Amino acid sequence: MPSILRRLRRTEAMRSLMRETHVRPLDLVYPIFVGEGLTQPEVIPSMPGQFRQPVSSLGILAKTLQAAGVGSVLLFGVPLTKDDNATAATHKDGVVQNAIRAIKDATPGMVVMTDVCICAYTTHGHCGVLRGQEIDNDATLPLLSAMALSHAVSGADVVAPSSMMDEQVGAIRCALGHDGLSEIAIMGYSAKFASGFYGPFRDAAGSAPSFGDRASYQHDPANVRHARREIVQDVEEGADILMVKPGLAYLDIVRLARETSDLPLAAYSVSGEYSMIKAAAEKGWLDEKRIVLETLTSFKRAGANLVITYHALEAARWLNDC
Ligand code: PBG
Repeated sequence: MPSILRRLRRTEAMRSLMRETHVRPLDLVYPIFVGEGLTQPEVIPSMPGQFRQPVSSLGILAKTLQAAGVGSVLLFGVPLTKDDNATAATHKDGVVQNAIRAIKDATPGMVVMTDVCICAYTTHGHCGVLRGQEIDNDATLPLLSAMALSHAVSGADVVAPSSMMDEQVGAIRCALGHDGLSEIAIMGYSAKFASGFYGPFRDAAGSAPSFGDRASYQHDPANVRHARREIVQDVEEGADILMVKPGLAYLDIVRLARETSDLPLAAYSVSGEYSMIKAAAEKGWLDEKRIVLETLTSFKRAGANLVITYHALEAARWLNDC
């Protein structure tokens, strides 16, 4: 009986009824680059439609997101000053600290997540402090903890360490606990691969490493078992949310993370994924709306609860129109 499956997809009404996976605006997290000292949004050439935002624009942006049904943002700081030890990352009036307060003032119900990594704050552009040409894992942990604490004190709901230092989740969990901030959640970048898809982000954040690459701390794209060990370890260290990044080329890892743990899971559709779709759409080669909704569905189908995407606002509007 070869046609039995087609009975269930004959009309749109039937297809809607049978649909297994749904994407809601609330599932989307919008990453925002916040530029210190800006008075106007600044174009990011390699990410059409995305801007480095001044703190003064964030209130309106947050209200716009909320009106479209997007309930969370992930903040990345682009500071004016950099040094070897990322001093600006922990300033009380640092760019991310100010951004958190601006968003919470405008939209108290917005869930504010912050990236915790020093690469945009260091002159060398690496995600850990250096000992010679090597990354000093353990010397980086107190810096990440101090940065996470500073974000939490400023009102962040979720801190998201992305530097890929071993024990970063445990160190931050411990520091938050000591300071009476144990209710702040940690989203572990559990499976963050050393990926070419981060290229446009590094333009946007000014965070490209000045020498070498990130292969000694981010995952080898060829490895599944190693990624699983990191996922398990993040769970043991006290992560509240897991994340897999990039998204599209790593859907098998999203599925693996889903099957490895019952924690909420985020897939990060990174800058290169966004820019590929934008570039092809600009040329008229792809139908942007269709491709974006299809890829968002694939992240959820693979097992993600949340999708971090630069398309969040546009996609939320498309979903609301559907
Ligand atoms: C910082 C960080 C990066 C991204 C998120 N956090 C860049 C990197 O690791 O080089 C990439 C996100 C994107 O490409 O959208 N460590």
